[in-house]
Amino acid sequence: MSRPTRPIAADWLALRVAADTAARDRATGFVADWVAATDAVEPAIVDIGAGTGANRAYLAPRLGRPAHWVLLDHDADLLAAPQHGRAQRVVGGIDALDALIAAGADLVTCSALLDLLTAAELDELAEVLARHRTPALFSLTVDGTSRLDPAHPDDGVVASAFNAHQARDGRPGPNAVDHLTARCAAAGLSVRRADTPWLLDAGSAPLVARFMTERSAAAVEAQPELAEVAAGWLTARLASLDAADLRLRIGHVDLLIGAG
Ligand SMILES: C[S@@+](CC[C@H](N)C(=O)[O-])C[C@H]1O[C@@H](n2cnc3c(N)ncnc32)[C@H](O)[C@@H]1O
Repeated sequence: MSRPTRPIAADWLALRVAADTAARDRATGFVADWVAATDAVEPAIVDIGAGTGANRAYLAPRLGRPAHWVLLDHDADLLAAPQHGRAQRVVGGIDALDALIAAGADLVTCSALLDLLTAAELDELAEVLARHRTPALFSLTVDGTSRLDPAHPDDGVVASAFNAHQARDGRPGPNAVDHLTARCAAAGLSVRRADTPWLLDAGSAPLVARFMTERSAAAVEAQPELAEVAAGWLTARLASLDAADLRLRIGHVDLLIGAG
């Protein structure tokens, strides 16, 4: 089985579905406009970084027509999820996309992927979209912004270290949206953008607790000298969550990319 160096946990993907759905619904009209860009009766759709299938599960009932799904992911374990049913599954990375579109894809999509990609992968994505003029809907890219209310004095330092972790090894990370937008625009593609933040509170306590715990760990991985500060921050934030006294706005962006 092919497994990436940093696999994404399937239970994390399950935990975020409700927040993702509410966030994506803020990109009003994006799904309808994306699917209207093809007149295929049953479009072939490539979902890059399909994971356990949350993107397809969100989109399929909103398309207004049946679709043939091609699920691409570099993690064979996630692609083995039973909910994928009989959808076509391809284990691979961005370098597999060109051939998949050439084989007849009408639309391309991904969710919660772009901020994980390297600059070279984002560049390749823009090049492939431009080469094939394939409409794309890229949802839920982390944009590096976060607001926690009430504020804690260490929110900023933890957020900066988390963003540095996302930007490890030269990745655009929190700048992935801007990076891809610039490449697409330079290639003559149109790009529309909608803010699709997570708006969370104690009503999503398991997601918020996991998010903050992983945020703290990533911050320390990027800046080990923050270990004590991040531990104190996490303890205080989990206490606020337990007291139902915490609201979060975690920035995400959806992009709708067209032939221009
Ligand atoms: C945060 S998960 C999102 C999964 C799914 N789209 C969702 O919204 O639940 C990111 C997914 O992209 C996959 N992935 C990350 N980098 C990739 C790459 N370079 N090529 C292919 N898949 C990748 C991961 O294995 C994972 O399934």
